[in-house]
Amino acid sequence: MLPRLQNRVPPPAFCPLDKHSGAPIARRLEVTLTDDVLVVHGGTPLQGQIRVRGAKNLISKAMVAALLGETPSRLFDVPRIRDVEVVRGLLELHGVKVTDGADDGELVMDPTNVESASTDEINVHAGSSRIPILFCGPLLHRLGRAFIPDLGGCHIGPRPIDFHIQALREFGAVVDKAPEGMHLSAPNGLHGAKLELPYPSVGATEQVLLTAVRAEGTTELRNAAIEPEIMDLICVLQKMGGIITVHTDRVIEIQGVPKLHGYAHKPIPDRIEAASWAAAALATKGEIEVLGARQADMMTFLNVFRSIGGEFEVTDDRVGRPGVTGVEGGIKFWHPGGDLQPVALETDVHPGFMTDWQQPLVVALTQARGLSIMHETVYEQRLGYTDALNQMGATIQVYRDCLGGTPCRFGRRNFKHSAVIAGPSKLHAADLVIPDLRAGFAHLIAALAAEGTSRVYGVDLINRGYEDFENKLAALGAHVERLS
Ligand code: EPU
Repeated sequence: MLPRLQNRVPPPAFCPLDKHSGAPIARRLEVTLTDDVLVVHGGTPLQGQIRVRGAKNLISKAMVAALLGETPSRLFDVPRIRDVEVVRGLLELHGVKVTDGADDGELVMDPTNVESASTDEINVHAGSSRIPILFCGPLLHRLGRAFIPDLGGCHIGPRPIDFHIQALREFGAVVDKAPEGMHLSAPNGLHGAKLELPYPSVGATEQVLLTAVRAEGTTELRNAAIEPEIMDLICVLQKMGGIITVHTDRVIEIQGVPKLHGYAHKPIPDRIEAASWAAAALATKGEIEVLGARQADMMTFLNVFRSIGGEFEVTDDRVGRPGVTGVEGGIKFWHPGGDLQPVALETDVHPGFMTDWQQPLVVALTQARGLSIMHETVYEQRLGYTDALNQMGATIQVYRDCLGGTPCRFGRRNFKHSAVIAGPSKLHAADLVIPDLRAGFAHLIAALAAEGTSRVYGVDLINRGYEDFENKLAALGAHVERLS
């Protein structure tokens, strides 16, 4: 057993500070990092099968949508992750009865008695997630007012909410920013609007959908995000009675309806988690079958994976084959041996290469022979985690310029948002503090790929988006243990 290095490590970088005391909000929520350390004995190829459940970035929004219905909703395949707990807590505070259904992963949400919650109660969730911003429309429809706490989420750039507020005002909401959070009301109800987003923001598109679906009249949203999670949210709203048309060129039209009912929905699988495990297979020279992963949502990732030299097989042909029962398909990813190839990539909105695929893949790219380029165009500060990889022996240089493809929004601003990765590099063990969710998983992959024993601090942050990851690691043959 390794000796405990220190009892307390600094809070992770995403952790917001209490405005009054200056203390990290995570501490107020009694989250400490003392027992939050994973010891990783690296160098073993990960091998085996794991399963992904419903997509975190759909589940949380579908849970908010349940508020809009007048009868209970049922959501299946819900992973046990922190973001789900936060949204569940907020729903319960507003009178929604949330219970576990008969099936494993089934959540039943009964919004029959929606009621206001106090600012203090809601503020317990301040700084814990970005999802509370999506409660605006549904609460305004149900209660005529809403209070939204300070948002949390990963520290990967400024992450403003100006598009959300602008859209809400166009719908007729009155938005007051106060020191304790944001108060909203809709004295004249909410009505449809003609909107155009300056950038196809996922959250702002969801805000518009969740507000417009019950607003009076028709809403037209231009330059909307069209991620698979958004299409799945549209499916949820359609099941509830919504009338939503997706036109070409990122135009979504929503005909408001006065009433919605509950839904029953099996969400799309988590394509971010699936890609994270795929990158782990490549970086550790292993083979991982990700059950539940769906090819259609991952085409862009799969093309890149293949270009680098990784191999994959879509195994969903087993499903429904005569005589085959109880077998679930997915995608099997593996490193075929030999050198990996470098690649020039840029992250983008759908159908581009997702920003959340970037960090785990960069770890694999440290093993490719030659120079790879990663141009991050969605968030301005999502390459900070590369410092830790360099400490482990990687050679990654970050630049303010737009390298590789087309100039992006950050080109003439002062953000280091392009990386050049020179490989292959032999990674060695290090002590790492997890900075945010996806970078955290990337650090974990690097520790698994490295020779020697690493200590990874703040691993509980990974529970925000990766269900049961320690048991999954064990199932894949990783040598990891909690520092005790
Ligand atoms: N933006 C603005 N103003 C706004 C809203 C967004 O300038 O009002 C900017 C952002 O600063 C960013 C860009 O638009 O530069 C894209 O942000 P977007 O709104 O699309 O992101 P989000 O809705 O906050 C979701 C996911 C992220 C994922 C992005 C992009 C959830 C809970 N989060 O964030 O997921 O990276 O879309 O696909 O759905 C994660 O899962 O780890 C994660 C960060």
